[in-house]
Amino acid sequence: RVAVATLLKASGAAEGTRVVVMGWVKTNRTQKKLCFMSINDGSCASHLQLVVTKDEVPEAMWEAATGAGNGASVRVEGCLKASPKEGQKWELPVESIEVLGPSDGAKYPIPPVKINLETLRAITHMRPRTGVMGAVMRIRNSLAYATHNFFQQSGFMYVHAPLITGADCEGAGEMFQVTTLDLAKPLPKLGNDVDYTKDFFGKPAFLTVSGQLNGEYYACAFGSIYTFGPTFRAENSNTTRHLAEFWMIEPEIAFCDLPKNMDCAESYLRHCFRHVLENNADDLAFLEEFEINRKADEGIVDTEAKLRERLEVVVKNDFGRLPYTEAIEIVSKVAGPREGVPWEFPPVWGQELQTEHEKYLAEVVYKKPVIVYNYPKGCKAFYMRMNEGCAPGKETVAAMDVLFPRVGEMVGGSQREERLDILLAKMAEMGLKEEDYSGYLDTRRFGSQPHAGFGVGFERLVLYATGMGNIRDAIPFPRTVGQMIH
Ligand code: 4AD
Ligand code: MG
Repeated sequence: RVAVATLLKASGAAEGTRVVVMGWVKTNRTQKKLCFMSINDGSCASHLQLVVTKDEVPEAMWEAATGAGNGASVRVEGCLKASPKEGQKWELPVESIEVLGPSDGAKYPIPPVKINLETLRAITHMRPRTGVMGAVMRIRNSLAYATHNFFQQSGFMYVHAPLITGADCEGAGEMFQVTTLDLAKPLPKLGNDVDYTKDFFGKPAFLTVSGQLNGEYYACAFGSIYTFGPTFRAENSNTTRHLAEFWMIEPEIAFCDLPKNMDCAESYLRHCFRHVLENNADDLAFLEEFEINRKADEGIVDTEAKLRERLEVVVKNDFGRLPYTEAIEIVSKVAGPREGVPWEFPPVWGQELQTEHEKYLAEVVYKKPVIVYNYPKGCKAFYMRMNEGCAPGKETVAAMDVLFPRVGEMVGGSQREERLDILLAKMAEMGLKEEDYSGYLDTRRFGSQPHAGFGVGFERLVLYATGMGNIRDAIPFPRTVGQMIH
């Protein structure tokens, strides 16, 4: 059995080669004595054109071919033939065809007409069969491969952080609680009604928001590590960039400071997009056409697709680097992101940059990714390293966010506070109990060292690489506030 992707790339010398292909019917059109069918097997964005000639196959096979509805699975055999059609290298004159699983084309959940992405989200079980989700998921796969490839080649060890945890790493209080249930009894109310001393773990348990603290323990033993796994946030934000379950890549590096942490994030992101440019050419071409059509449908005048161009911007340029205080100054100089559009949230020193500010910096000011660093301590997590020499009331931490055009925050990271006394003072100030972080504090008591790391939102990486506008289309099964299908 040959994959359609392999077959379509075959050189001219492959003419006449006998192949067996298996896939799902995309289109099927019958003329008197000819049946033209296209099939796709998920290996690439292109379809393979099949031609069945009535007089050359047994009657039963002709009936099976002409009756194969959209979505049916088929096994076909034939010898490759150069296609007379422009833009299509090969076609397959069918010598034998078998319908493995029939499909009633009229009832097939994916209609043959254009279908919008929102409608597709309601059929998460079938949308991987569409061209657009096929391209997105193949690119997602490439990004996962490039992630392991980059870190493994750079000497990082892959660490599996736990999904069930007792600690709120980010301190934002947006966690999902985990408890046991006896379904034979009435459901207990969470919170005070659950007696945690008798519950499974003997104490409250949650789904992790970040593997960072576990990652730090391992960096403090192995030097350079990374985690790559699902993380969960019960954020009540119904936006195009937030999921309740998303995947995060979290490298953690011992003996590393903030500038070196930035270098690592930059090299990693560049590696990922270079990998996609080099390995997903036909998916990118497909998504560019998809973007052109979408823009035309929405009546947008500039119907140029810029997907590859946008990836090249990342691959070919150094990222901008900008202290937070200067970022606030830049954003404060204008009244809003565009002429006549005021800021929804005017910038204020001491508060997080809003998505509108982040996009303005990356899209309008830098026109490429930019790393904003040294954020006010009040808007970041407890573990970030305090910067020295700050004016009173203007204390900052060694934090960094990588901001991308279109996406906004792609990466959040920092140099970690390795000084025990300063960390303890900060935790007391933020009301965190020492006993909840005793293991974390031990790494500062026994052989502490400067270290740094960052977290990359994997779906935001997929968003940028595919040009999709909504994070729900960047993950196979999106979970967002108020919505979970399959
Ligand atoms: O900035 P965040 O919250 O940082 C951390 O969790 C750190 N512990 C990471 C570290 O230093 N090891 O999240 C990191 C990234 C964000 O920049 C964003 O790309 C993504 O995770 N992210 C989300 N992606 C999708 N849906 C959400 N609800 C997300 N929240 C954060
Ligand atoms: Mg962040």
